[in-house]
Amino acid sequence: MAPPTDPTPRTHQAIARPIIRSEQPGDVPAIRALHEAAFGGTVEPGIVDALRGTPDWIEGGSLVAIDPDGMLVGHVLLSRGILTTGDTTTRPIWMLGPIGVLPDRQRRGTGAALMHAAIDLATERAEPVICLVGHADYYPRFGFQPARAMGIEPPDPGWSNEHWMALRLPAWTPDLRGTARYAPAFGV
Ligand SMILES: CC(C)(COP(=O)(O)OP(=O)(O)OC[C@H]1O[C@@H](n2cnc3c(N)ncnc32)[C@H](O)[C@@H]1OP(=O)(O)O)[C@@H](O)C(=O)NCCC(=O)NCCS
Repeated sequence: MAPPTDPTPRTHQAIARPIIRSEQPGDVPAIRALHEAAFGGTVEPGIVDALRGTPDWIEGGSLVAIDPDGMLVGHVLLSRGILTTGDTTTRPIWMLGPIGVLPDRQRRGTGAALMHAAIDLATERAEPVICLVGHADYYPRFGFQPARAMGIEPPDPGWSNEHWMALRLPAWTPDLRGTARYAPAFGV
C-alpha cells in the first residue's frame, strides 16, 4: 500500500546560526561600531580598544559572531583580571564583558552563542572562574550566580549582589575567595 500523501507539504526554514570565531585584525572597526550601536556610546568600544595589545588581553578571547551574510553582528570580550585572595596573594581570573549584539539582530540567540563560546574557551583553558557585572536577568541562564555568595567581592563595593556575578568552572577551587579587579583599561 502506498503511504498516505500529506496534502499540506511543510516547508522547513533553516535557522541560520552565526559563526563564532576569534577576532581578526580586520574586525576592529566593526567591533567598535557594534558596541557603539549596542550600548549607544563610546565607553565600551573604548575599553575594548584600550585593552587590545596589553598583557590583560587574552589571545583568542575576543570572540565575534558572523552572520551567514558575512556581517559581524556580535562580540564578547574576555580579559584578565586579578583576584586578591590575601594580603599579598593574588590569582589571575577571567572577566567577561563587554558583550553586544547589533540592535536589529538581537533576540535570535547570538548573545547566547557568544556566551557559550566564551564559557567553552575558559573551560578548555582550565580557568577556574569567570566574573562579570551585568543584567541580573540575562546571565543566570548561563549558570552565573551572585559572586559575593561565592566569596568573590566586586572591585567597587557599591555594586549590587544581583549584578555582580560569577560562574564556577570545573577547575574552580574553594580558595578562590577575595576581591576581584578588572584590568586598568576598565577604569574601575
Ligand atoms: C544583552 C545582549 C548581548 C543579548 O544578546 P541577544 O543576541 O539579544 O541574546 P539572545 O538572543 O541570546 O537572548 C535573548 C534573551 O535575552 C534577553 N535579554 C536581552 N537583553 C537583556 C537585558 N538587558 N536584560 C535581561 N534580559 C535581556 C531577552 O529578553 C531574551 O530573553 P528570552 O530568551 O527570554 O526572550 C543584547 O541584548 C545587547 O547587545 N544588549 C545591549 C548591550 C548590553 O546591554 N550588553 C550587556 C551588558 S551587561
